[in-house]
Amino acid sequence: MLKGKKILLGITGSIAAYKAIMLVRELVKAGAEVKVVMTPAAKDFVTPLTLSTLSKNVVLADLFDADSWANHVMLGRWADVMLIAPLTCNTLGKMSYGLCDNLLLAIYLSATCPVAVAPAMDEDMWHHATTKENLKRLQAHGVAVIPVEKGELASGLFGDGRMAEPTSIIAFIEQHFFLEKDLQGKTAIVTAGPTYEPLDPVRFIGNHSSGKMGVAIADELARRGAAVTLILGPSALKPTHSAVKLQKVQTAEQMYEAALTAFEKADIAVMSAAVADYSPALKAPEKIKKTGDSLQIELIKTKDILKSLGAVKNTKQLLVGFALETNNEKEYALDKLNRKNADMIVLNSLNDEGAGFGHDTNKITIFEKEGKEFAYERKPKQQVARDIVDRIVKMIYA
Ligand code: CTP
Repeated sequence: MLKGKKILLGITGSIAAYKAIMLVRELVKAGAEVKVVMTPAAKDFVTPLTLSTLSKNVVLADLFDADSWANHVMLGRWADVMLIAPLTCNTLGKMSYGLCDNLLLAIYLSATCPVAVAPAMDEDMWHHATTKENLKRLQAHGVAVIPVEKGELASGLFGDGRMAEPTSIIAFIEQHFFLEKDLQGKTAIVTAGPTYEPLDPVRFIGNHSSGKMGVAIADELARRGAAVTLILGPSALKPTHSAVKLQKVQTAEQMYEAALTAFEKADIAVMSAAVADYSPALKAPEKIKKTGDSLQIELIKTKDILKSLGAVKNTKQLLVGFALETNNEKEYALDKLNRKNADMIVLNSLNDEGAGFGHDTNKITIFEKEGKEFAYERKPKQQVARDIVDRIVKMIYA
């Protein structure tokens, strides 16, 4: 999978840098082309000579020397993936705030390729609130964080914070960036975000959905080769993958029309939008003025998009719905699965910390038509999207 792939490996000043030697060796063995860039502190732990010998490339460390300037922009463009392993607290902090006092940071800030980091630190540093915040910022900027491992640490303590082993790092890179395009040739539609139901020209009824989960799913489907149409309600977000066709809508009715039309040619439909269940019966042509102590608004039921697709779907189409519940979660999720004729329901419970609206993370349980049930840990929404698409792939080729 890594054959011919260009990996730019950044090494920072941690005792775990000794593992970077094995990492380079394994990457080269897997057929990757590896260039190494080190921070000045990294040279205290491993020598550039070892790394240049193993990578068969000159090791870079300085922004410029007496007679040359390292082209950080071109290095970031050369790579298919920039991997920083080990990542120290110091470099993590600098990356998260955009500081740029060495070549590695300059490359990171100008890199157009995806970036992954493998943190390495002592347990207390790993659990420090600042470290957590910095990692969160990095993830929000699209950086993939390779989970640390538990074990003996340089301090002699035992706990979280050990850099992942080179084999785990390579597995992560393959899985994350070089996955086979298992949805090549498939067409998918995704609904996401809230809908706004207008009351008058200035007011609407809406909800707190950010659209993050649906946008992440659309990006993941596209990354795996599908041609994706994202039907997105009012949300500031945009898909990052260029193969996602974005169709913006405002109301439940517009989302319904767009989804029904696009579904005709779709193999996969993921309905993650928080569609308004009711919409004002009348939209006032002018701004509604304050006239009394109370105001009655008649609301009428919107069309249920998921249910409508379930009613027309053929046996080859795969339909995925979401359920956001506060109580009797499983019972309601299974009811939605049957009632709306979906193949899969992704449940997120508002009782779970870090799940649902607005969060960068989500904690889901997937229920499938054949009675299968999969519960997942709380994870960043990009990784949740990967779990959901993994199940979609399994079902579609079953
Ligand atoms: N959904 C939809 N169109 C609607 C309402 C909901 O497509 N008008 C979809 C959502 O995108 C989601 C699923 O239905 O995939 C579940 O939505 P939810 O509002 O939780 O379910 P309801 O059917 O409204 O059930 P209830 O109000 O009983 O929770």
